[in-house]
Amino acid sequence: MKPKVLITRRVPQPGIDLVAAQCDVELWDSDLPIPRATLLEKVADKDGIYCLLTERIDDELLDAAPNLKVVSQMAVGFDNIDVPACTRRGIPVGNTPGVLTETTADFTWSLLMAAARRIVEGVEYVRAGHWVTWGPMLLMGPDLYGATLGVVGMGRIGQAVARRAMGFGMRILYTDAQPIPDAEKEFGAVYVSMDQLLAESDFITLHVNLTPETYHMIDAAALKAMKPSAILVNAARGGVVDHDALVDALRTGEIAYAALDVTEPEPLPADHPLVHLPNCIVVPHIASASIATRTKMATMAAENLLAGVRGEALPNCVNP
Ligand code: DGY
Repeated sequence: MKPKVLITRRVPQPGIDLVAAQCDVELWDSDLPIPRATLLEKVADKDGIYCLLTERIDDELLDAAPNLKVVSQMAVGFDNIDVPACTRRGIPVGNTPGVLTETTADFTWSLLMAAARRIVEGVEYVRAGHWVTWGPMLLMGPDLYGATLGVVGMGRIGQAVARRAMGFGMRILYTDAQPIPDAEKEFGAVYVSMDQLLAESDFITLHVNLTPETYHMIDAAALKAMKPSAILVNAARGGVVDHDALVDALRTGEIAYAALDVTEPEPLPADHPLVHLPNCIVVPHIASASIATRTKMATMAAENLLAGVRGEALPNCVNP
């Protein structure tokens, strides 16, 4: 008998096809998340779950899925999964590291440049019919070239972002749990304290996992410590930034601009102040959304799932 698996959303077809070739698949065939009660009901007889970061995988779900052999997430981040709870039950958790590094770094730069050069404001200005002449002081913003970039978290994605900064002749500061000698050698990045990074960076980009330690790491005090001209980019997890403090900082000019791919909560309500502030860009968690990368993420998650239902080691496992 084929293993029974649940795929919790429509994902790129090659991922579904890989799983369907070897498993009895139940697909939540929708672009919206599966309701929690339905999820709990549908996992009851499943050997594997192929999930997204919109599903909470916790003790309640694991209790509802007595046959579960594997949790495979189509994302590199896994803060929606209670990994220790899975580990206690001997259930491996798969994720999709590596494949989205360059795509996410590209998008981080899209946000950074859009904020610095006020692209969204420019588009809105033209659409509103306000463009009547070339303006010598119209929508001016800071240069990237020669500016200081502060990278918070010099992991895979932080390094890919820093590598791109070399092309802009930027000075690169970074923080992490410990110095990363390769980053210092390759990009001339300088390991500094968080205080120094906040005080000296023109652009601050966040690339840390969301953990109890990083939750609201960028709070009112951190925002106050930034330059009034600072631009903050978050393509990590929304919870790393205290959004109430960010609204205040953007309103009072404590910092100049923010560009957010991720928010807390997601989705951010359409009437949230961050959505409407002229000096804030919010996009719907799309940093890894290139066609090739999302397809590869879908097939990597499929490979993890298949290994898990066979009782084999997952190619990418967060709790090996
Ligand atoms: C991840 O993979 O964790 C991203 O946030 C979504 O691609």
